[in-house]
Amino acid sequence: MRIRNVAWGGLVTAALLSGGWAQAAGDSAAVERGRYVVSTSGCNDCHTRGYPESGGKVPVEEWLKGNPVGFSGPWGTTYPANLRLVAQSLDEAQWLQAARREMRPPMPWFSLRDMSDEDLRAVYAFIRSLGEPGEAAPEYVPPGVAVTTPYIDFVPRNLPNRQAAR
Ligand code: HEC
Repeated sequence: MRIRNVAWGGLVTAALLSGGWAQAAGDSAAVERGRYVVSTSGCNDCHTRGYPESGGKVPVEEWLKGNPVGFSGPWGTTYPANLRLVAQSLDEAQWLQAARREMRPPMPWFSLRDMSDEDLRAVYAFIRSLGEPGEAAPEYVPPGVAVTTPYIDFVPRNLPNRQAAR
């Protein structure tokens, strides 16, 4: 009887272990896919400080921590969010909803809206695999309110008169 129990215990342990491994393998495939989607969809251009200026040479340890440099336009001034903090504060279902909301410019929210559930989940898994989140990005500043942080003037210049008049 004792031997049978030990044998069963071994089987159960083996089953649990292999289940855990399959899960871990699935998770790491999602993290890899998420990294690919993030790095080819331009998320770092805005959500990682200095990324475009460095030709994409910012190490992954610094990715997606948000940006203290705002974008100013008719919508006010927006700051690319610290996506590590965002992903850590939401469960997967909440992330899918939050990522598909309409957002202010220049966030290409329509790209996330059109992303498959699978890719959005992979992006979530990847962001959550990143380390220490760091500081939140500054709060949104409405139009007409003084901006105290660095910002990029996101307004077209030298448009032909016909367009400028519109
Ligand atoms: C051109 C700059 C730009 C790019 C590229 C960009 N974002 Fe954003 N993102 C922003 C800005 C600015 C905000 C804040 C918008 C606001 O305040 O409404 C934002 C907000 C978000 C939010 C909402 C955060 C919150 O607080 O709930 C998510 C999620 C997000 N971005 C994900 C992404 C992902 C994923 C990618 C890549 C596919 C991406 N963004 C690419 C600029 C950008």
